[in-house]
Amino acid sequence: MAVLIDGKKIADEVKAELKIQIAELKEKIHRIPGLVTILVGNNPASESYVKSKLKSCDELGMHSVIEKLDESVSENELLEIIEKYNRNDKFHGILVQLPLPKHISEDKVIEAISPYKDVDGFHPISVGNLVIGKDTFYPCTPYGIQELLIRYKIETKGKHVVVVGRSNIVGKPIANIMVQKKEGANSIVTVCHSAAKDLTKFTKDADILIAAIGVPNFIKEDMVKDGVVVIDVGINRVEDPSSKKGYRIVGDVDFDNVQKKASYITPVPGGVGLMTVAMLMKNTFISFKKFNLI
Ligand SMILES: NC(=O)c1ccc[n+]([C@@H]2O[C@H](COP(=O)([O-])OP(=O)(O)OC[C@H]3O[C@@H](n4cnc5c(N)ncnc54)[C@H](OP(=O)(O)O)[C@@H]3O)[C@@H](O)[C@H]2O)c1
Repeated sequence: MAVLIDGKKIADEVKAELKIQIAELKEKIHRIPGLVTILVGNNPASESYVKSKLKSCDELGMHSVIEKLDESVSENELLEIIEKYNRNDKFHGILVQLPLPKHISEDKVIEAISPYKDVDGFHPISVGNLVIGKDTFYPCTPYGIQELLIRYKIETKGKHVVVVGRSNIVGKPIANIMVQKKEGANSIVTVCHSAAKDLTKFTKDADILIAAIGVPNFIKEDMVKDGVVVIDVGINRVEDPSSKKGYRIVGDVDFDNVQKKASYITPVPGGVGLMTVAMLMKNTFISFKKFNLI
């Protein structure tokens, strides 16, 4: 039976360490990190994500503002607001909650954020720096995956990491992180996607399998080898009349069966998902330290 990778425990550890460091710096330089989250419209899922970010900032002693904008805000107005925060020294991180309404270009918005405050790590300059191995902001979910592997002391050097999914927020960045010649990486990386004719050929060879597909219970036990480390990024709703809400959340991995073969596995919920906000806090703190030349 696999060891469960406890995302809550590790996220709490990361946040507790940050809280101490933030308090120490506040004492020393009388400044604190600041994060602004820009939310356009009333998407309930986005509202709930934004609230959890605000709550974490409060817990850690960081300055935090939610800039809530009406669905009808124009692209230009939004770009001007971003520019205002680019110039505001109280904020070291700017995050625009995605998705945005259709009349606003996500690319333009992401590119308007100063790369110095790009704590989501989605700006093309951050992405480019990641690819060439320079110091940069890693996107929060993949950064959280690497943190889990490091804190569970899972060997990554020379291991075959197979990523299923090539999105810009998970698949591609985690592949680019794991291929770096650095601690917690230095892996042999394969990226798979929907054009793979025989996916199992790749997944079965994985020492570490990272599933970021968005299809409930997609990875089955016959697709993995004994002893595999499984990182399940998926967050999928499936109908469940027995639950109060009428649904439950499952990952991209058929957890009950795959855990019998795996050496380590992340549960859903309780695994990768909880790391994302913790790493956003870490990125904001890193940005704050850089700004203050610490
Ligand atoms: N904080 C978190 O924990 C967090 C953050 C982000 C996402 N997620 C979750 O992670 C999952 C993936 O998110 P995402 O944004 O990366 O998804 P996405 O943009 O929809 O990308 C899904 C990827 O999976 C690939 N794929 C789909 N069906 C496949 C198949 N049958 N065989 C092989 N590859 C297949 C797609 O291939 P193509 O490129 O060929 O279409 C695509 O590259 C979702 O459940 C999402 O909710 C969690």
